[in-house]
Amino acid sequence: MYFHFHFDDQGIELLSALFKRTAIEEMQHVERIADRILYLKGDVIMEANAKVQQIRDIPGMLEWATNSETAAIKMYNQFALECGANADTATKKLFEDLVMDEERHFGQYDDEVDNIERFGESYLAQQAMERSKAKTGPAGGGA
Ligand SMILES: [Fe+2]
Ligand SMILES: [Fe+2]
Repeated sequence: MYFHFHFDDQGIELLSALFKRTAIEEMQHVERIADRILYLKGDVIMEANAKVQQIRDIPGMLEWATNSETAAIKMYNQFALECGANADTATKKLFEDLVMDEERHFGQYDDEVDNIERFGESYLAQQAMERSKAKTGPAGGGA
């Protein structure tokens, strides 16, 4: 969400939307895991895993995002294996579903890393220009 706020502030529309959409999906992951924990008669401890990293450079934000997804993929794959070993098919399926989502997130961020490498600053500039155009309306039409 921190990255989404900054992309939005800088007018980087596409990346802002991608980070926002992904953050919402991550919140849904929390809900799905919490639901399963409560079904299993556990309790949910709502604590932040880590402090928000105040990274503001765009390659740095994408690097953080791809690293986070990679770590999540590894962790949920491990959890799915452990659930399988303990004959808990439903929780295994939950973690397998999460792996699918995290791999998709990784792919989306990785595509953006590639786009920035290929097109450089102009790729970001174009997004900011599209935002300005959308805000001010068609050329010559503004009052
Ligand atoms: Fe997630
Ligand atoms: Fe993710």
